[in-house]
Amino acid sequence: MSERVATVVSVRGVHKAFDGKPVLRGVDLEVRRGETMVVLGGSGSGKSVLLKHLNGLLRPDRGEVAVLGCDVARLGEDALVPLRRRVSYVFQNSALFDSLSVGENVAFALREHERLDEAAIEARVGALLESVGLAGTERLFPAALSGGMRKRVALARGLALDPEVVLYDEPTAGLDPLTGAAITTLIKGIADGRGATSLVVTHDLAVARELDGRVALLRDGVFAFLGTLAEAAEQDGPVGEFVRAGGVHARN
Ligand SMILES: Nc1ncnc2c1ncn2[C@@H]1O[C@H](COP(=O)(O)OP(=O)(O)O)[C@@H](O)[C@H]1O
Ligand SMILES: [Mg+2]
Repeated sequence: MSERVATVVSVRGVHKAFDGKPVLRGVDLEVRRGETMVVLGGSGSGKSVLLKHLNGLLRPDRGEVAVLGCDVARLGEDALVPLRRRVSYVFQNSALFDSLSVGENVAFALREHERLDEAAIEARVGALLESVGLAGTERLFPAALSGGMRKRVALARGLALDPEVVLYDEPTAGLDPLTGAAITTLIKGIADGRGATSLVVTHDLAVARELDGRVALLRDGVFAFLGTLAEAAEQDGPVGEFVRAGGVHARN
């Protein structure tokens, strides 16, 4: 039923406040199947809060959230489990299990959700690690990894169930520019290679430039702009200022 919908993510009029302090004040967003959408916004603008609404980690005070045709705002926890297999969330801090090896981290969702024998799991984990440039690292532990490597492991883990939608929260945060660029290239490859719909939340305009999709700028609890980065740079006022401050120039 929901399989062929062209709109994969549909957010309408979402409001969310914490302790009476509004963070989202009527957010609307549509992401189409196969699209890579970048959500930009300053620190504390509500980017992570918005992303958490898309897999039911947070519920809106008001408004609609539909992902892959499912009413995420209203589904019970049990009903969210199958949706979360199809919608992967790559957390800002990588959120690896420090007591598990790299291989076990990547295998985690496979063990939880798929009935595979050990040989099949091993093969799948090996292929996933290879796809993020970490072939042969199964036995290392997270503590031994650089920030960039941890992020790669998080990406491999996020792809384990072959998700239709991948949500990335600040994928380059805390990484040096070169490592950040390598991660961004990987994200682009994941989007192009798998045809997964990608929603990338970031304050890093280099990410938006490289991914080259539509950008949505979150400001004062709503999307102040939706379009290409070049169009954003041409805007007067805070939208243009934000984008130009990140080194994106208007065409003229
Ligand atoms: N679980 C929570 N409880 C209370 N306040 C929260 C919670 N999550 C986020 N906030 C607040 O919402 C605002 C937006 O946070 P966030 O979405 O994390 O910003 P960012 O755009 O940097 O990702 C911040 O003021 C933050 O303190
Ligand atoms: Mg955040």
